[in-house]
Amino acid sequence: MLPPDDKLTLCFAHVAYRFAERYTQRGGKLAHFEVRSLEELEARIGEADVLLVSGMWRNHLAARAPRLKFIQSISAGVDQYDKDVLRGAGIRLASAQGANANAVSEHAMSLILAVTRRLAEARDNQQKRHWRGMIGDLTQREDELGGKTLLVVGIGRIGGRLARLAKAFDMKVVGLRQDPAKGSEGADEVHGMGELHAQLPRADIVALTCALTPETRGLMGSTEFAAMKPGATLVNVARGAVCDEAALVSALASGQVGQAALDVTAEEPLAGASPLWAMPNVFITPHTGGETRAYEGNVLDLLEANLPRLRAGEALVNQVV
Ligand code: GLV
Repeated sequence: MLPPDDKLTLCFAHVAYRFAERYTQRGGKLAHFEVRSLEELEARIGEADVLLVSGMWRNHLAARAPRLKFIQSISAGVDQYDKDVLRGAGIRLASAQGANANAVSEHAMSLILAVTRRLAEARDNQQKRHWRGMIGDLTQREDELGGKTLLVVGIGRIGGRLARLAKAFDMKVVGLRQDPAKGSEGADEVHGMGELHAQLPRADIVALTCALTPETRGLMGSTEFAAMKPGATLVNVARGAVCDEAALVSALASGQVGQAALDVTAEEPLAGASPLWAMPNVFITPHTGGETRAYEGNVLDLLEANLPRLRAGEALVNQVV
């Protein structure tokens, strides 16, 4: 199990977050170091008993980490970790579920508003010093959200908060989750994920907020895009791989999917050659949905809750392995 506090070393591995600074400011007493690149992590992971990491994780690192007992994921999603590799190496894992729930739900709501109010186009026009006239074509005009139906695919912490935000805009909210008995999280209705095909045609906006799992990989393909209301909006703040991206590009090109607001893409960073960049009906943010100035503190709260649980052999907060 974990060594005593005076022998325990934390490693904070993230390209940008200021964990070491925040940990010290909060009065954290454990020995720690911070790495900013995979190369540095590869070189120093052998020194760590506990690792905080998200996108920098690679499964080959487990074999280089003889002391490592626990990964407190910085990300809510844990699709990057091979759970069998971790189990085999005796490394426990907890997700950061909840740490970014406010940020991602607010980002999803911002994307919905941006698309509905055509903010991206306004900014493009601003750069051209172009004062756009009013629009007669109803398919192109700004719209309002009241009375529109939002389908939240994967209604957990993030999707639930999005549902509550959308209710404040007088939307009708339908949620889908693996186990609808877990509750509606503020949506007007909740159904099992198996209802996806039945619910897609009702939605003016489909928001993907689910985790990437074997069940949700490729969940939205050509059949699902064809089942959407013609011209409806897709918002993806989940993972790019939840969509078949080639099918999405075709559906956007034909107008079957009217517009997409994407915070995530199948490959990140999105390749320069991707057709998504130049599509007029696509609004892209670079996987910044979870960014918040509160992030480090939210994850350190989880770490501090989990260390005593690890020692006591109790279930972890957001336990995965
Ligand atoms: C962000 O995508 C996360 O999983 O936290």
